[in-house]
Amino acid sequence: MVFAPLHIGKLQLASCVLMAPMVGLSTRPFRILARRHGCALTAAEMVSSEYLVRSEPSDREAHRVLEEEHPTALQIVGARPAVMVEAAAMLVDLGADVLDVNMGCPVRRIVKGGGGAALMKDPALAASIIAGIKARVDVPVTAKMRAGWEHGGQEAIVLARALEDAGVDAITVHARTREDRHRGAPLLCVLRAVKDAVSIPVIGNGGISTPADAVTMLTRSGCDGVMIGRAAVGDVWIFERIAAFLATGREPGPPSGETRAETLCLHLRLLIEEEGEKKAVILFRKCIPHYLKGIPGAREARQRLCSAGSAEEVTRTARQLLAPGS
Ligand SMILES: Cc1cc2nc3c(=O)[nH]c(=O)nc-3n(C[C@H](O)[C@H](O)[C@H](O)COP(=O)(O)O)c2cc1C
Repeated sequence: MVFAPLHIGKLQLASCVLMAPMVGLSTRPFRILARRHGCALTAAEMVSSEYLVRSEPSDREAHRVLEEEHPTALQIVGARPAVMVEAAAMLVDLGADVLDVNMGCPVRRIVKGGGGAALMKDPALAASIIAGIKARVDVPVTAKMRAGWEHGGQEAIVLARALEDAGVDAITVHARTREDRHRGAPLLCVLRAVKDAVSIPVIGNGGISTPADAVTMLTRSGCDGVMIGRAAVGDVWIFERIAAFLATGREPGPPSGETRAETLCLHLRLLIEEEGEKKAVILFRKCIPHYLKGIPGAREARQRLCSAGSAEEVTRTARQLLAPGS
């Protein structure tokens, strides 16, 4: 079976394996690492359109896409069309290769304001947001939605058609409903129904943690690409494992201890560039357990790495623990 590289509007990607936007997780260091390890399109966490239009230009610089990150999708969340259009234009000025609109966030504060998953209940408003953004920016525009508001709903199909008519270039479906949040198996039948309802590319997301999961989603739903979220945290190699499996039918082995240690150290160095050493060492403690998933002695390793007080100590300890003798 051939899994073609994905194109979104005029943007041709190297494969059909993409990163999911995740607040607090899809940070710039993570995006840079993912690009180096086979992710065809990275994604930054959602940004409030209301915040963006009120922000100072200097504050917006935090969202700038750096040279080594491209191609990257930047995502906005909100519900007021004029504000969304303005915010979209700002993110494109900051280097977004794709402008994504969040239509799936289930968080109450966002939904109450009419944004995120609430847009699934108002396809006319959602379509007007997309049409406004399409008229303003010259990069591909995508939307990321849920499989529905709750089980059995038809919102995803209705919304997908409305967005296609409004000119959206691709749709991502997190194949769980708003009420599922992040639990449960992906609803591949809903993904299939969305794919059958439109002729633009459809990207499937939800619950992929192995190359076999990716193949199941692609073949059972007919979707054009897959988006990986939580499984990539601490395992950026998942992008190249899936891409290689889709291209050759063979899965590369897991990373060696040395690769794991060096990637952990690089992640910390990239974080230091952003935050300075003192803050980065503390922030990085959140990332450490992810790098130790499934490793013998993970608990003790976590304690030692999390109590390290400097970048040099984290680096030395990581090499000792993960790549002894190298
Ligand atoms: C901590 C966290 C933050 C998230 N933030 C966003 C976000 O900013 N925008 C968005 O569209 N989805 C967000 N999501 C949803 C993910 O993009 C993705 O749809 C979801 O995790 C399902 O994919 P997975 O099962 O591969 O993790 C978030 C998910 C998590 C766990």
